[in-house]
Amino acid sequence: MNYTSIKDIDNLDQWVQQAIKIKKKPLKNKKLGKNKTLVMLFFNPSLRTRLSTQKAALNLGMNVMVMNFGSEGWTLEYEDGAIMNSGSSEHIKEAAAVVSQYCDIIAVRAFAGLQDKEKDNAETVMSGFLKYATVPVVNMEGATGHPLQALADAITIAEYKTKARPKVVLTWAPHPKALPQAVANSFVEMMQLQDAEFVITHPKGYELNPEITKDSHIEYDQDKAFENADFIYAKNWSNYNEYGQITNSDPNWTVTAEKMKLTNNAKFMHCLPVRRNVIVTDEVLDGPNSVVIEQANNRTYSAQLVLQKILKK
Ligand code: CP
Repeated sequence: MNYTSIKDIDNLDQWVQQAIKIKKKPLKNKKLGKNKTLVMLFFNPSLRTRLSTQKAALNLGMNVMVMNFGSEGWTLEYEDGAIMNSGSSEHIKEAAAVVSQYCDIIAVRAFAGLQDKEKDNAETVMSGFLKYATVPVVNMEGATGHPLQALADAITIAEYKTKARPKVVLTWAPHPKALPQAVANSFVEMMQLQDAEFVITHPKGYELNPEITKDSHIEYDQDKAFENADFIYAKNWSNYNEYGQITNSDPNWTVTAEKMKLTNNAKFMHCLPVRRNVIVTDEVLDGPNSVVIEQANNRTYSAQLVLQKILKK
């Protein structure tokens, strides 16, 4: 079993309930991972993913090895049949096979480069590990998805919702750097598995990949989208059509206390890290309805559920 996409979740409700159960007794399966090793390979920076996944593995009694592959590893080649006479030192074929001998699960973080849409959509790094690793692979944020985050988001919504069918709004917000669409993509895919009134709001031109959004409701008027919302999930992503570009930095899209007044006393969510007073104002982030810290806490139980499922296979 791999966990590289929201599509790997066979029953979201069941997974969320199982994660909530783990959260109540996180050390219950402390023996499950005895003598098993998790290798975590980071091609990009991280705070939450690194520490929560490590904590999850430790809760299961696993050994953990972490490598900042982006700065410490050899530059990898991903193309089969490549003549490696320039930049790359090692082929993914050997690298994935070798790492597989040292561990029982490989977890990989490899962001979108935002230079080449086709390459990013092909998930070159994640696909390379999936193809050549001989142990299960976990996605700690790939080019197009962040399924551990979205599972933690589902847990958070389940914990805070006060009605069976809440209104959940994913809102784009401005950011000074070009960011991938991965978090938003997995959140959308996860919401499509939920019984909820789900709305995506962003400026015109900022449509996510239509193969992911499918028939999700898109509302270009942020104020209208916020009306009666129970959850506001803020996230920036760069332009998918003009790939990887920042074509809008309108501060009117920042989530403010004024905008939150349009909602049904909504909880505020963000995957973190967050740019204060750019994505969201201090007032909202520090306010009583902000659940971002608990959301980050749920990253441990999302990861623990996934590792536990893999270990039990
Ligand atoms: N939300 C998230 O994945 O955080 P990090 O990038 O710090 O891991």
